[in-house]
Amino acid sequence: MTKRRVLGTVATLFMVLAGAAAAREAPAAESGVTFTKDVLPILQRSCQGCHRPGAIAPMSLVTYEEVRPWARSVKRNVETREMPPWYVDRRIGIQDFKDDPSLTDAEIATIAAWVDAGSPRGNPADAPPPVEFPSPHEWQIGEPDLIVSLPEPYLLPAEGPDEFPNVYADPGLTTDRYIKAVEVKPDANSLEVVHHIVTTMTEFDEDLAKGNFLNEYAVGKNGDIFDDNTGRLMKAGTKIRFGMHLHPYGEEIPVMVHVGLKLYPEGFVPKYQLVSQHMGDDDDLLIPAGEKGVRTDGYTMLTRPAVVTAFQPHLHTRGQAQCIEAIIPQTDAEGNVLLQAPGTSPAPLMRQMTLNCVPQWRFNWHLVYNYAEEAAPVFPPGTVIHISTWHDNSDTLRVNPDPRNNVVYGQRTIDEMSFAWVSYYYIDEEEYKARLAAQNARTSNDQ
Ligand code: HEC
Repeated sequence: MTKRRVLGTVATLFMVLAGAAAAREAPAAESGVTFTKDVLPILQRSCQGCHRPGAIAPMSLVTYEEVRPWARSVKRNVETREMPPWYVDRRIGIQDFKDDPSLTDAEIATIAAWVDAGSPRGNPADAPPPVEFPSPHEWQIGEPDLIVSLPEPYLLPAEGPDEFPNVYADPGLTTDRYIKAVEVKPDANSLEVVHHIVTTMTEFDEDLAKGNFLNEYAVGKNGDIFDDNTGRLMKAGTKIRFGMHLHPYGEEIPVMVHVGLKLYPEGFVPKYQLVSQHMGDDDDLLIPAGEKGVRTDGYTMLTRPAVVTAFQPHLHTRGQAQCIEAIIPQTDAEGNVLLQAPGTSPAPLMRQMTLNCVPQWRFNWHLVYNYAEEAAPVFPPGTVIHISTWHDNSDTLRVNPDPRNNVVYGQRTIDEMSFAWVSYYYIDEEEYKARLAAQNARTSNDQ
């Protein structure tokens, strides 16, 4: 083949490719995807909670003028599913969540088509009314019975790296109480610098880190109001730990944060007692310098019939991935766990069910994956919750503080952790059988 012919072929190829690209874009232009009609409703639902003036995201995505310069970046971030922050694997496990901000494939295609068509504004009359965001001064859970604040403002400098302070506060409880609703709220001056906050209750001061989970705050999320007759126990003498992720914003800020609690009356014990506990911890965790894909496993048994309601991976900077699965004893059709008579065989097999995986952990985002009511799985007693965690201590991990060091288990951000907060409550035998029957009916309908 002569040089000229090669060039000619390449040129033809370019024309074909250009033609194909034009053909790909044509339907977008023809389909008339516009900002006001198609894109704005998506941004309102899934982005503006954080991307609005005064909130944590770096830019506002409220008006056309604000979004237009970010169009390409928006396309890239939604196509890679970097935004909105929601990092659960969509191909495996439970997919039905409360408050799921993630986009459908169709919504991503709509945004991409809009950008490819040159980001047209469209008819202003097509725009949905602007969303009214809750005032930072109002409690979304209603007026709390108890407000616990940082003992004093935490002074965040104008500039510098993100900070991760843990601050303790004493709610002054003298009797055990059950929490009906909880909300974490930074003062208006602190909204722009609070990336997220995880509050925990430290019931036993000898082991502060393993207290009971209270609430997770990220901008765009309201408080947690538990279902009827469901509560989280707060023991007398408990302290609250505010684990904060703060992001300097060019101005020194005295950060002030409160947690508001609505409580059941004194002495009242709700039927469902919601517990969130560490599962998967490995105190002997060792991640050798330079290694990637270092796996840790932890196993916890649910000793009574249980409903699992939420999963929240908790790793530090070198976190790579995490999965939660249940290993379930064999049961009869009613849900009774099969027990062998002595001397009989074979021993029953167990069943495996993956609840969720987070294939690529992002240290920046501590997200709680709360299952929708009907999707929260019911398990027989003896079910083992297995947390598998992978860490990356290689130099290919951009956020690795130092790949030359072995890393061990510990509290500091430069140490590591390998657990998940898993939320569950126990139910009685009768309710277990009724719920299991309903769950089995739903899964057989799905198939
Ligand atoms: C929970 C809060 C939150 C939600 C919801 C959210 N974002 Fe973001 N977004 C952020 C934060 C914070 C950043 C800054 C980077 C970081 O911290 O990860 C960011 C960064 C971005 C960036 C990159 C900006 C840059 O500097 O390059 C784009 C683009 C973006 N978001 C678009 C979106 C879109 C589009 C949606 C909705 C489909 C969305 N975001 C939903 C909080 C959010």
